[in-house]
Amino acid sequence: MSFVVTLSGSPHANARSAALLERVIHAVREQGSEVVSYHPSDFPPEALVYADFRHALVRRLQEDVARADGLIIATPVYKAAYSGALKLLLDLLPQKGLSRSLVLPIASGGSLAHMLAIDYALRPVLSALKARHVLDGVYAVESELAWAAPGELAIGDELQERLDEAVGRFVAQLPSAAPRTEAVVRTLAVTARTVGALAVAS
Ligand SMILES: Cc1cc2nc3c(=O)[nH]c(=O)nc-3n(C[C@H](O)[C@H](O)[C@H](O)COP(=O)(O)O)c2cc1C
Repeated sequence: MSFVVTLSGSPHANARSAALLERVIHAVREQGSEVVSYHPSDFPPEALVYADFRHALVRRLQEDVARADGLIIATPVYKAAYSGALKLLLDLLPQKGLSRSLVLPIASGGSLAHMLAIDYALRPVLSALKARHVLDGVYAVESELAWAAPGELAIGDELQERLDEAVGRFVAQLPSAAPRTEAVVRTLAVTARTVGALAVAS
């Protein structure tokens, strides 16, 4: 079973990016991963703003991220970049904190104007944290994200398709997917040898 950590970067309780992340968490859990989630509001503001590395929850975040196979980050676009609240969470991580992690970024914005914010603003920070691999992100504009009911996000088919495709790529590249693949490769090798031996014998 792979271990996945999620970071949600919207300071708002009823955040669209957080609701989008919940959908992705559900899908990743359904594929057999254990998921642990962190949100800025989980932390006492002092521990977050003053980056208190002795605080128990900050240490737990660091430990969880250090052993995570995958990391999913969801953020609103603020001022043409990711949110300050997300940066506060990322600043709690050690220098090479993401060296084990496959990262899937998700962002929501008011318009398409800053749809590249994931690549020009967030990706360099993830690289600085030595992320093992940062997948292409999913960008959603507000018009694709409607509240069907309080806390219940309704999204269009096209966005759902993009999310499904991104989750598929993420799950397929999680280390836990490797053993299965290796087993297939091993089986194929044995089969090839058997076929070879049969060909010689006949
Ligand atoms: C302070 C602030 C700054 C924003 N800056 C941008 C921006 O630069 N580009 C953009 O497309 N949307 C911008 N938006 C719109 C948000 O990205 C958009 O409403 C997003 O869906 C909010 O996500 P949330 O509900 O997860 O917090 C901004 C919103 C706020 C509150």
